[in-house]
Amino acid sequence: MKNEFAGLTVLVTGGASGIGHAVAEAFIEEGAIVGILDKDLDGAPARCRGYAVDVADPAAVDAAVNSFCESAGLDVLVNNAGVSYPAAVEQGPLEDWAKVFDVNVLGYVRVTRSALPYLRRSKAARIVNMSSCTATTGLRNRVLYSGTKGAIEGMTRAMAADLVSEGILVNAVSPGTVDTPFITRLVEQAPDPEAQLAVYNDRQPTGYMVTADEVAHAVLFLARPGNRSSVGSVLTLDGGLSTIKLFDS
Ligand SMILES: NC(=O)c1ccc[n+]([C@@H]2O[C@H](COP(=O)([O-])OP(=O)(O)OC[C@H]3O[C@@H](n4cnc5c(N)ncnc54)[C@H](O)[C@@H]3O)[C@@H](O)[C@H]2O)c1
Repeated sequence: MKNEFAGLTVLVTGGASGIGHAVAEAFIEEGAIVGILDKDLDGAPARCRGYAVDVADPAAVDAAVNSFCESAGLDVLVNNAGVSYPAAVEQGPLEDWAKVFDVNVLGYVRVTRSALPYLRRSKAARIVNMSSCTATTGLRNRVLYSGTKGAIEGMTRAMAADLVSEGILVNAVSPGTVDTPFITRLVEQAPDPEAQLAVYNDRQPTGYMVTADEVAHAVLFLARPGNRSSVGSVLTLDGGLSTIKLFDS
């Protein structure tokens, strides 16, 4: 299994921070040529090609994908760039809702559209979409974010159906709460940061958050050329959040 990705080309959106950063590093460790699209390249892995791109900007996405893939081609696309937005259904201006959908959902669509001509030329083409446990588990104050991730899971299965006959395998990863700057920001904004941190740890039945490296390993599992049978699937790493309850019975 080692070096299965040697010489393959991987594009990761949101690869400068958190999960995307860990994914990019994991592919680099396995010998892949890695490009990242991120609106803020600060902290991006050193051994990758970075493109400062907002996934909400179609022209910039297209230019960056073409620039990266024209020389090296493309084997794996990891759609990962996303934003949080704590909100109940009545909260936040609808303009904000549209912006979050534009990044979290249409961002995946834009990058995939630009990448598909290159993926079609790969012998082991894979797309891995970053979902979230909020797609399937109702958490308070996450209506907007959950809606975007529910869309991603539905789209993952439908894209998988459209593309499987071309040999492009599409899957998703659904993490629980992952210890990344995404969560650190929410903790810092909370009225009682310490209590909020405890909530994020405790809401996984394991009692601790998922790590970005664990999510990266799941992405690599789905993307491996040797994995020819995962398709339309959602691989869950949520410490049991969506499946088990610790009630005495
Ligand atoms: N951290 C969690 O608890 C958690 C759980 C489940 C799913 N996720 C998902 O994982 C993905 C990554 O989250 P993370 O925790 O690593 O967050 P993060 O904030 O650490 O990293 C996200 C990266 O995406 C980039 N980004 C954001 N908007 C962008 C845009 N419009 N264009 C280009 N780049 C953009 C940011 O600059 C950043 O580098 C997101 O899709 C998120 O919804 C996170």
